[in-house]
Amino acid sequence: MKPEEALRIAAHQRQRFNQLVETFDVVQPDAVIDRLRQIVAAAELQTGDVVLDVGTGVGVLIPLIGSYCPSVILACDLSERMLARLHQKHAHVWAMQADIVEAPLAAAIVDVIFMNAMFGNIADKPAACREAARVLRPGGRLIVSHPEGREFVARLRTNTDLFIEPLPTREEFEPLAAGLSFQVTAYRDEPKLYLLVAQKNL
Ligand SMILES: C[S@@+](CC[C@H](N)C(=O)[O-])C[C@H]1O[C@@H](n2cnc3c(N)ncnc32)[C@H](O)[C@@H]1O
Repeated sequence: MKPEEALRIAAHQRQRFNQLVETFDVVQPDAVIDRLRQIVAAAELQTGDVVLDVGTGVGVLIPLIGSYCPSVILACDLSERMLARLHQKHAHVWAMQADIVEAPLAAAIVDVIFMNAMFGNIADKPAACREAARVLRPGGRLIVSHPEGREFVARLRTNTDLFIEPLPTREEFEPLAAGLSFQVTAYRDEPKLYLLVAQKNL
């Protein structure tokens, strides 16, 4: 994808997600919370870790991440209105308005990156994964996940004007991962759970 096309898509996403704060700021059903808990558990967070929640929205993952006692939770999102709501709910999170393809972070400072329910929204996925590899420490983990699974994303694609692409299969993700010194260490593609863990080589 050409950089100007990726920029155009990101601007559209920012505008649309700004309009969707109320849609996302809802109490999640217990079954969804349970799957989100499995997603966060897959990162094997340790006390004191630095965590980055990409496309954090209103911060659905934040309490679950917080239960592992990280030293700091960073969050980025294109949408300033999502971030304003995140700040109201979770003022301890260090939030930044940014496209993940240009994360305003130093290299090798993050232990775990979550991209939950947002990977399909990224226009330039190779650039986003490059940036994830840059900010992760050796041994750090990138978690790409969706708590409703691949079919849900496929259905969304038919009835939205948001940019959203299908979630990658393991075979589609692995060549990209290998080129960035990531290894896919876990993969679940179930009717209501998509979960891929990629670890940056030591
Ligand atoms: C469907 S919401 C998911 C929010 C949250 N992760 C969750 O699990 O509920 C997707 C979020 O990703 C953000 N987003 C989309 N593309 C992005 C990008 N390239 N960089 C950063 N944030 C992005 C959107 O603004 C939106 O808030």
